[in-house]
Amino acid sequence: MSRVPIIIGSERSEAGLAEGARLLSSGATALDAVEAALRRCEDNLEDHFIGTGGLPNARGEVELDASLMVGSTRAFAAVGAIKGYANPISVARAVLENLSQHCLLVGEGAELFAEEHGFERSELLTDTARELFVAALAPSKQSVEGENTPALPGDDLYRTSARELVRRLVPHDGPWGTVNVIALDEAGEMVVGVSTSGYPWKYPGRVGDSAIAGAGNYCDLRYGGAACTGRGELSMRVLGARSVVDRLAKGEDPTAACQEMLREAATLPDIFRSELRTLCLTADGRHGAAAGQSGATYNVIRGDSLELEVLPRALI
Ligand code: GLY
Repeated sequence: MSRVPIIIGSERSEAGLAEGARLLSSGATALDAVEAALRRCEDNLEDHFIGTGGLPNARGEVELDASLMVGSTRAFAAVGAIKGYANPISVARAVLENLSQHCLLVGEGAELFAEEHGFERSELLTDTARELFVAALAPSKQSVEGENTPALPGDDLYRTSARELVRRLVPHDGPWGTVNVIALDEAGEMVVGVSTSGYPWKYPGRVGDSAIAGAGNYCDLRYGGAACTGRGELSMRVLGARSVVDRLAKGEDPTAACQEMLREAATLPDIFRSELRTLCLTADGRHGAAAGQSGATYNVIRGDSLELEVLPRALI
């Protein structure tokens, strides 16, 4: 049965959502639409929370996480803490299609896999992102190697500075930049995709919820799909996306399902608390989203209108 396709996304998915919707309306699969939408977001240099131009870890290196989950099979593939590849969502797709015995590759292994599958290395740290990093590190007692007179030699100085930065990390100000995209195609397949550069100035090797099935991404075609942005550690502790889909399975309204998951996450102690947000799409095309701050929005494009609707997220 052919149905009207729909694609939804988090804040700043606009950079790619129209392309995903255009593909869906011309009969493309949800997988193609989600990948294409997120690639455009990853290539958007103005966005400092995803792909090229993303904010680096505490050592000044851009490490990316991305995942895909397919609703009909619950196949999941992700890469975590991958460096030097501009489109981690496409590397995740290659894992999905060529390495189905595994769900998650991280670090060097993910980079080896990307190289073996023909992805080209590129520099992900833009001048603007580096300037933001140096400005964040500047208040540290030590300084960034090469930026000021070193008090410690070489890499030791750098590591000391970076560790100090991680120790004094305060909750991130304002919405986080991870991008979620969920598509339902005309054949009725649903795919959830998530891509991020993660927690700014994170400890090297930190992998967030965006690469973890059930935490930042979950999709079960019987009920729907959900994804999260914001403090990934909270989402991992409550299995946020899976928890939203479990609520859909019980027949809850999509908006209420999102609100209840966030309310549960808000009960957890977390001195580094920053906001967690979530959105979901049901297998019959209903959607909802929630946030802890007013003014938060999400994006929807239906395949029959191709018009971008920016809708308010419900408050918890
Ligand atoms: N939700 C994105 C992250 O925590 O990395």
